[in-house]
Amino acid sequence: MERTFAIIKPDAVELKLAGKILARIEEAGFAVRGMRLHHLTKREAEGFYAVHRERPFFGGLTDFMSSGPCVLMALDAPDAIKKWRTLMGATDPAKADAGTLRKDFGSSIERNATHGSDAPETAAFELGYFFRGMELL
Ligand code: RTP
Ligand code: MG
Repeated sequence: MERTFAIIKPDAVELKLAGKILARIEEAGFAVRGMRLHHLTKREAEGFYAVHRERPFFGGLTDFMSSGPCVLMALDAPDAIKKWRTLMGATDPAKADAGTLRKDFGSSIERNATHGSDAPETAAFELGYFFRGMELL
């Protein structure tokens, strides 16, 4: 069993897609072991995406991620990190495979509905960034 960190991003929450996305998560066989609604501050978004600090899209990305509430989740499944990134699809919804969350619910490379950790080390950092041990089952 592996644990990953997932976000339903502010665009999807604003469009009232959180319930549909959660249903897809459960149908795919993930166990939700932590979940909280949170409106990131700009500073929290900058810390979360610190690896992208030098990238040209950093300002827009952190503005967007702090623009409204999102849903933070800890998801368990065998091979959860890869399984969740497969369910999300490519970063750019226009390039995402049919049947993926970003294809179905994203509207642009920035407003792409969901986030997922990309490796075990990032999952550990991201889970610890947003959840206290007591909040995770
Ligand atoms: P995420 O971290 O949000 O799960 O997305 P990802 O791994 O698929 O993509 P990543 O390379 O980590 O990029 C993080 C977020 O930055 C935005 N982005 N914009 N304008 C651009 O060229 C560009 N490239 C990336 C996306 O919103 C991406 O989710
Ligand atoms: Mg990423």
